[in-house]
Amino acid sequence: MTTLAQKLTNGLITLSGLDREDILRILRHSQKFKDGYTPKSLENRIVASLFFEASTRTRLSFESAVQRLGGQVIGFSEASNTSLASKNESFADTLEIIAGYCDAVVMRHPNDGSAQLAQDLLSIPILNGGDGTHLHPTQTLLDLFSIFETQGTLAGIHLGLMGDLRYSRTIQSLLETAVMFNMQLSFISDDDFQPSQQQLDWLKANNVTFSLHNDIHNAIAELDVLYVTRLQKERFVNNSTDVQNLIVTTDDLRNAKNNLKILHPLPRNEEIPNDVDDTPFAYYFQQAKNGLFVRMALLDLIFSNKDVPRTKTQTDLVAANEWRCGNKRCISHQCQPAFKRINVHGQTSVICYYCEQNATAQ
Ligand code: NCD
Repeated sequence: MTTLAQKLTNGLITLSGLDREDILRILRHSQKFKDGYTPKSLENRIVASLFFEASTRTRLSFESAVQRLGGQVIGFSEASNTSLASKNESFADTLEIIAGYCDAVVMRHPNDGSAQLAQDLLSIPILNGGDGTHLHPTQTLLDLFSIFETQGTLAGIHLGLMGDLRYSRTIQSLLETAVMFNMQLSFISDDDFQPSQQQLDWLKANNVTFSLHNDIHNAIAELDVLYVTRLQKERFVNNSTDVQNLIVTTDDLRNAKNNLKILHPLPRNEEIPNDVDDTPFAYYFQQAKNGLFVRMALLDLIFSNKDVPRTKTQTDLVAANEWRCGNKRCISHQCQPAFKRINVHGQTSVICYYCEQNATAQ
């Protein structure tokens, strides 16, 4: 049996390789940090914080976590001043060089699948701080921590997901775990921003109960948690900025259950007006603060297990010349494309190894 420590030896790219018990262990460990536990498990360690894309919470909470654990941080908060941007150095060369200066990398990058590529290129742990529209696993861990903290359980809760459910990486990662904890889901969004058909099919194959709504009014009364996201306008392919965001108002909250908590990965735009902050339902600022404890716990788990042998998971890849990835944001267009076959409850399909979107036959 693979232990959690073994699963984390190469860092964390996706939560799909963890199981329910692994996640609960990380959350229990995070609670210790929230209660004041501060081991110096990163003493003499250097973590590179590579943010090729904007960030406030993820970068600063990771950097704070490293320093609170006794480690040191090198890195950049935007890539424009690196040789990759100004001297045409490749992504692979850039990473290879940085890996020589540090013990682990935290990376955020605009391309889907870039974290997986980084992990394959390097032999130090990579922590995915968000790869394009694909995944944001450490955000999900702090989301789950906040849900557990406010609801006393993750199992079977009714989770409403509202806003941009298509291009938001926090939603993609949260869905990976909603399945593990048998959550009931209500998707609240305009048709164009509901989860993709591939995702809905995957939820169905996993027997997840879900419903689709175009506004919050007939969904709110059932929910234990309402997870709101902003429109990810910077990712819209056609650059349209005139899309109307869905908004949750204090009026909508009159029908809410007493235990309802509103979460948001932040930053927020107009989807949560400021007066909602004063209601007992608002929990997004506490949620953001929890990011520090969860990231401390994760780094501690990775660095306290120095003796765990590092093993790279081997994925069986499918002949690349027969398949194509149609996702314009995918990192596979900047490296050797690769595809894998997956089997979801008897249904086989081929997906891009990097961004995990359905591949098309050439
Ligand atoms: C999110 C992100 O960057 O994916 N923010 C975060 O990490 N807390 C959400 C967003 O940008 O909307």
